[in-house]
Amino acid sequence: MDYKELRHKYINFFKSKNHSHIPSASLIPENDPTVLFTTAGMHPLVPYLLGQKHPEGKRLVNWQKCIRTGDIDDVGDASHLTMFEMLGNWSLGDYFKKETIEYSFEFLKDVLGFDINKLHITVFEGDNDAPRDEESASYWKKLGIPDDRIHYKPKEDNWWGPAGNTGPCGPDTEMFIDTGIEKCSDNCSPGCRCSKYFEIWNDVFMQYNKNEDGSYSLLTQKNVDTGMGIERTVAMLQGKESVYETESFASIVKKIEDLSGKKYGFNEDITKAIRIISDHIRTAVFIIGDEKGINPSNIGAGYVVRRLIRRAIRYGKKLEIKSPFLSEISEVVIALMQEFYPELKQNKKRISDELNIEESKFEKTLQSGLQELEKILVKLNENNQKILSGRIAFKLYDTYGFPLEFTKEITEEKKIMVDVEGFNEAFEKHKELSKQAQAQNFKGGLADHTEKTTRLHTATHLLHRALKNILGEHVNQKGSNITSERLRFDFTHPEKINNETLKKIEDMVNEQIKKELDIKMEIMTLEEAKQKHATALFTDKYESKVKVYTIGDFSKEVCGGPHVNNLKELGKFKIIKEESSSAGIRRIKAILIDE
Ligand code: ALA
Repeated sequence: MDYKELRHKYINFFKSKNHSHIPSASLIPENDPTVLFTTAGMHPLVPYLLGQKHPEGKRLVNWQKCIRTGDIDDVGDASHLTMFEMLGNWSLGDYFKKETIEYSFEFLKDVLGFDINKLHITVFEGDNDAPRDEESASYWKKLGIPDDRIHYKPKEDNWWGPAGNTGPCGPDTEMFIDTGIEKCSDNCSPGCRCSKYFEIWNDVFMQYNKNEDGSYSLLTQKNVDTGMGIERTVAMLQGKESVYETESFASIVKKIEDLSGKKYGFNEDITKAIRIISDHIRTAVFIIGDEKGINPSNIGAGYVVRRLIRRAIRYGKKLEIKSPFLSEISEVVIALMQEFYPELKQNKKRISDELNIEESKFEKTLQSGLQELEKILVKLNENNQKILSGRIAFKLYDTYGFPLEFTKEITEEKKIMVDVEGFNEAFEKHKELSKQAQAQNFKGGLADHTEKTTRLHTATHLLHRALKNILGEHVNQKGSNITSERLRFDFTHPEKINNETLKKIEDMVNEQIKKELDIKMEIMTLEEAKQKHATALFTDKYESKVKVYTIGDFSKEVCGGPHVNNLKELGKFKIIKEESSSAGIRRIKAILIDE
């Protein structure tokens, strides 16, 4: 069974259990400044886990492209990827533990045909926040899993979420396949990082909300959130050692073999380099080719793509692949995935152009790095020094993208040694700093649906309409980002907006707020929404049924919410900045002042 068949079997299985199939969301979270990427299928569903009504009902299923940059240092092993595909099914206040576990078991055994004797299960052992999950264990036992294959684990292992600081979360039960290889130690059990047990599926019982003070309270409804990694599950179904030997990657690996003349599996270094190049280019293609396409840059998600691309090029150099080669590999990635992610096909040219631009930029950086290194070597020679410091080797790595081996090769030709220990120290320090920065990025709570962000989100609808009314219908939303302090709205408009016009826009929004209108939500088909002239980002993928939010006769917009019930909750609207965002796109930042 390959990545295509598994996907369809999963969707059809859950459809037969009355789930609605919803599309994969963008990799860039909407209205969420606290995370760079969608890391699980549940991210776009947070409002519904918190109790809002989903237009498609209470049972959902999909496949979702996910990015976990935190795993980047593990890429090269058998199973860690920076981008992976997650199959998920959700119950929004509908079925709970019993049905979830029965569905998982039935799917693994009857549909996928896994040998159930190889299945290991973990459940939550309980602590002060939530009880030991004997209930889940009892359902697994009833299905025939013996006690010695049910393992109780603490929060670090068997609790999922919230993805940020606050939000829905709960105990989970995870499914592992025993690959049959030796245990790495006496303590080796499911969850161990060696590759004996492969985690394939996680059923999370999202019953709790983690609050800002760290305490847990019960959500208004009991939800289920599950996630099955497509690449890992296919590897297990096919008895493969790693995800790279499955259809998700095989033709990418083959292309890299052809370009480099090196064989995957020849030795550890070559295998690892091929895996890293495959993973990184695949992820870069997905980020650039996303519905909300992100180009390489020095900030945020753009910086992640830049790093992935540069790292792929560096490993390409190790394998002596001639540049440029990224765009050629991207074509293979697109061919493999476009059926499931049509946005890749639509953005094919842009993906290739961006990769080419970035690759030639990096080549130039490498050239200036070489010149810099030459100068340093001349100086060392003049002073009769035989060692290049770790600090300089790290600078060459960090600023110019020189892998250590690359620097060593060049210096050793000149009989100069590199202080490898010093390099490693500088490297570790850097890793620690970027981990801290990453953690910082997650702070503040994922999908921060607090009262403040909800108010700002409603204000965004008013602003969008006011911009169209005053500047013209050519104004279209290009991006929205909300923190608890301010909203930021990007839109198409060719020129700077003068203060007088900004004041008019502000006044129009405040005039509406003063009317203290109710906000009405209706569920309808996208076609009906269009007929009713609702504003929508028609470039986005929508579910077959959508929510339309109407504010008086002023604004009508297709949107997932959440919104306030009445405009009187907003206070006074104030624009604090108008600036250029990029060519043809303006940006407005605005706040709400409590009256
Ligand atoms: N959200 C859960 C996970 O990512 C299912 O494992």
